[in-house]
Amino acid sequence: MKMRIQDMDVKGKRVLLRCDFNVPIKDGKILDDSKVVESLETIEYLIKEGARIIILSHFGKVKTEEDKKKNSLAPVAKHLQELVSTKVIFSTSTRSIFLEDKITEMLPGEIIVLENTRFEDVPNRLESGNDAQLAMYWAGLADIFCLDAFGSAHRKHASTYGVAKYIPSCIGFLVQKEVEMLDKYVLNAARPFTILMGGAKVEDKVALIEALLPRCDNLLLTGGIANSCLYTLGYNTGESLRTTDPDVMRQLKNILIENKKKIMLPLDAIVGRSYNADYINHINIDTVEEDDIIYDIGMKTVNKYKLVLSKSATVFVNGTAGKYEDPKYATGTRELLGAIASSPSIKIAGGGDGVSAVKNFGLADRFTFLSTGGGATLEYIINGGLPAIDNIQDANNE
Ligand code: 3PG
Repeated sequence: MKMRIQDMDVKGKRVLLRCDFNVPIKDGKILDDSKVVESLETIEYLIKEGARIIILSHFGKVKTEEDKKKNSLAPVAKHLQELVSTKVIFSTSTRSIFLEDKITEMLPGEIIVLENTRFEDVPNRLESGNDAQLAMYWAGLADIFCLDAFGSAHRKHASTYGVAKYIPSCIGFLVQKEVEMLDKYVLNAARPFTILMGGAKVEDKVALIEALLPRCDNLLLTGGIANSCLYTLGYNTGESLRTTDPDVMRQLKNILIENKKKIMLPLDAIVGRSYNADYINHINIDTVEEDDIIYDIGMKTVNKYKLVLSKSATVFVNGTAGKYEDPKYATGTRELLGAIASSPSIKIAGGGDGVSAVKNFGLADRFTFLSTGGGATLEYIINGGLPAIDNIQDANNE
């Protein structure tokens, strides 16, 4: 059992709180603030206890100076100010005398949000590479470290992992809830256990698919992963999103050969064309043309997947069936999520797009649990733990 925030004396203390504020933002507007809202329980608790709250979070991928321009955490800090009654200060630096002075001046219950921790990745990957000096610096700003970034707990970053070495550490309410729900419903899943997986990050997911397969009974694939599988099997996928990495394709082919019975692929698709916004066609998967882009699954696939879902006792959703944010291509996602929501199964969704779709279709109340993690949730299902959580001190080590 890990040390929990409610087990620590945080009154008046400086608490370094690692949140996952990596929310989807378009044109400066937050599209889904679930991760921030889910972090409020811990934040409100710390405010009530009169702690001085120092929030760390990464935002997006930052590999160059240029990336910094579009990956500031400032809009999220501004949004947090709208959600809490206390003062939220934003520090444009992740390490500075200014930051240290601000922390010294903070009143009990106030919050300071540091700029995107991954700004420290340029040029030397100090955050992502878990640099000891950086971890020590951040730990030196506080008395206690609280990990509440479930969605980032699979990352051994300085801010998620390294800091816990230098000050007493604990997990926040969000991490506690995630672990409790995933242990109860997914690690000990009622069978048959079906995973519906889609999404764009194909390269990231191949190893995960391989590790997930022994844990589930059915893997229903859609999106970029399905396209990549179809391509490796010799189907034409036109201009659709898919991997081009030969190693990934080889790996996928082996996975498909070894797991023929568990993995299901689309039978038909709704396609569009890049040069003609009005073009839309419903075709069998073996008739995709060079110019076609697969944007959704067709009804034959919907019905085939629905049959499997209707016989499943547990369903985990990671990703959507297609480009559901465009109403022309929303049918597959709406149909599958609707069928899951109406079934008596245990239903969990994890990962940005899948969770956003569940919410957008007004199905959130009918799901058993919506996880704030994407990759983290998948890794938790595979390993039954995550590095940054395992790293937190045990409760009996007091
Ligand atoms: C997520 O959105 O899945 C988490 O914030 C982790 O983000 P990352 O994949 O950029 O580490």
